[in-house]
Amino acid sequence: MNSIISPTIYIISVLFLLSASQTTSSPIQQTSLIQCLFQHSIPLSTIYTPKNSSFSSVLVSRAQNPIFAEPAVPKPELIFTPLSESHVQAAVICSKELGIHMRVRSGGHDFEGVSYVSIIETPFIVLDLTYLRSISVNINDNSAWVQVGATLGELYYKIAEKSNVHGFPAGICTTLGVGGHITGGGYGILMRKYGLAADNVIDARIVDVNGRVLDRAAMGEDLFWAIRGGGGGSFGVILSWKIKLVAVPEIVTVFTITKTLDTKLLYRWQKVAYKLDENLFIRILMLVTNTSTTNERIITTSYQGVFLGGADKLVQVMQKRFPELGLTKKDCIKTSWIRSVLHINGFPVNSSLELLTQRNTSSASFKGKADFVREPIPEIALEELHKRLLEEDMPVIVWTPYGGMMGKIPEYETPFPQRKGTMFKFHYFTSLDAGGKNVPKHMNWIRSLYDYMTPYVSKFPRGAYVNYRDFDLGINKKGNTSVIQASVWGVKYFKGNFQRLVKVKTEVDPENFFRHEQSIPPLVLKR
Ligand SMILES: Cc1cc2nc3c(=O)[nH]c(=O)nc-3n(C[C@H](O)[C@H](O)[C@H](O)COP(=O)(O)OP(=O)(O)OC[C@H]3O[C@@H](n4cnc5c(N)ncnc54)[C@H](O)[C@@H]3O)c2cc1C
Ligand SMILES: *[C@@H]1O[C@H](CO)[C@@H](O)[C@H](O)[C@H]1NC(C)=O
Ligand SMILES: *[C@@H]1O[C@H](CO)[C@@H](O)[C@H](O)[C@H]1NC(C)=O
Ligand SMILES: *[C@@H]1O[C@H](CO)[C@@H](O)[C@H](O)[C@H]1NC(C)=O
Ligand SMILES: *[C@@H]1O[C@H](CO)[C@@H](O)[C@H](O)[C@H]1NC(C)=O
Ligand SMILES: *[C@@H]1O[C@H](CO)[C@@H](O)[C@H](O)[C@H]1NC(C)=O
Repeated sequence: MNSIISPTIYIISVLFLLSASQTTSSPIQQTSLIQCLFQHSIPLSTIYTPKNSSFSSVLVSRAQNPIFAEPAVPKPELIFTPLSESHVQAAVICSKELGIHMRVRSGGHDFEGVSYVSIIETPFIVLDLTYLRSISVNINDNSAWVQVGATLGELYYKIAEKSNVHGFPAGICTTLGVGGHITGGGYGILMRKYGLAADNVIDARIVDVNGRVLDRAAMGEDLFWAIRGGGGGSFGVILSWKIKLVAVPEIVTVFTITKTLDTKLLYRWQKVAYKLDENLFIRILMLVTNTSTTNERIITTSYQGVFLGGADKLVQVMQKRFPELGLTKKDCIKTSWIRSVLHINGFPVNSSLELLTQRNTSSASFKGKADFVREPIPEIALEELHKRLLEEDMPVIVWTPYGGMMGKIPEYETPFPQRKGTMFKFHYFTSLDAGGKNVPKHMNWIRSLYDYMTPYVSKFPRGAYVNYRDFDLGINKKGNTSVIQASVWGVKYFKGNFQRLVKVKTEVDPENFFRHEQSIPPLVLKR
């Protein structure tokens, strides 16, 4: 691959050329795999080949970025949906024995689709963990065991069923899979008080490359460290997490204040949001909408707040620290922690809690990127940002405040390194039109924005978030996962922790069985 062509452009163009090679399946390999699984007592009803009428619907059922489900994109030879831990063991043993490349999927939200698409090697199969989804909440010892195929919404729902003063600090979007999400870090509305989901894991069960099930004691502290933020698909198949439940008050106050663009206010938010009381989380959604009257495109900024406490206290805190937003008691909605999840997802707080357990898939393709900001962005750059937003069809920029607990956890405690000194995180997002139309145009827009932001965001290395996977940062080459090459994107995601991740990988999977375009490579490939 020509290094001047950026990976995603390359991928998108290759995807549409690859369709011809789809017919070159390897029936012999497929048959031997099915035989091997069968010998391990796997029910045939859990195995889908392209001949099964439901193959496509199973494939797209958890494909959350539709561009990677389009016909021209490489498809797996087989999808296997285990119903028990032993099925997962069999999948690893058989795939390894037969040398079949495997991708692992929990909730399917990977930004680049690596859990169900391989662009560096075909054929491949998908191990889809969607049916491993049991959740057992133990209020007496403030913990829960949750299987990886459960969604965050299901987890939140189950916790709330047992208690209204317990919660868990994970992501905002309720359809995220617990498997991929937690192993990549996992931030949400409770992050300023309790840190990431990965910071609140106390045990885990994983199938290693030899097909053994290991818990924390058996896997050892190095591997246990690596899977709490090192990103999915590199170390084994995680089966379940034991998480630490955290305390939330009975009464939580939420608000959303939407303003047309106000640069001064935005500048002020940058200076205060990360320093506020850690019970208060205020993020910004910045997007372009049409005014109903003149159909003119304008930028709106929604300040979405969740406060772990009552409205009186919140108004006091805001008057003291962030009066510029003009929050009054009228803006405040009294609710519970579980219903604050509905609010932050744009639903009225009195909506049915069953919404949290809906396993919807996204219908809109997207490209996303991340940045971390360590000093306020000057107003002049904010003005340019606005100009650029207006040039794009459906852009969104999410501003997520750090500080609080996020700044207290040492950089080396887990693989996720963006801690002390980070003021907030950017999520740049743009919608890609259906059918791959105008993809290059949207890609160019977001890449140009990313270039423009270079002077204003973290440097040496410029930080990235492995859960916002971005192939523009570089990808592994087929058959040559050199550490030097991988360190280009590796240090962006993990800073100094990348070296330790490589060390763990070298110990637990020296032959690189668990691999994808951005998996952690072993130091010296033993094959
Ligand atoms: C709409 C949307 C909203 C989001 N909101 C948030 C948010 O609020 N906070 C946040 O932190 N992130 C957010 N993300 C990012 C999200 O955390 C990551 O995409 C995460 O990896 C998704 O996990 P998954 O199981 O759904 O995805 P998958 O695509 O199934 O997996 C992601 C990666 O992990 C691997 N993997 C999956 N399961 C396992 C397993 N059991 N064992 C080992 N490896 C595994 C996959 O191979 C892949 O590499 C969002 C993403 C989207 C698309
Ligand atoms: C797929 O098709 C095969 C052969 O027709 C059948 O035996 C198997 O049960 C089917 N699998 C599923 C999951 O439907
Ligand atoms: C917004 O307005 C523009 C014209 O200014 C129009 O082209 C576009 O379709 C409108 N979008 C929506 C979502 O209404
Ligand atoms: C929620 O509250 C609004 C306004 O009070 C009301 O119109 C709506 O019917 C309520 N919805 C539900 C699901 O209770
Ligand atoms: C899921 O999709 C349905 C139908 O489109 C929609 O009504 C519902 O609000 C969606 N649920 C969530 C949680 O987004
Ligand atoms: C793998 O890539 C590295 C870095 O590009 C290169 O130095 C090395 O020679 C390559 N090895 C093989 C076996 O191709």
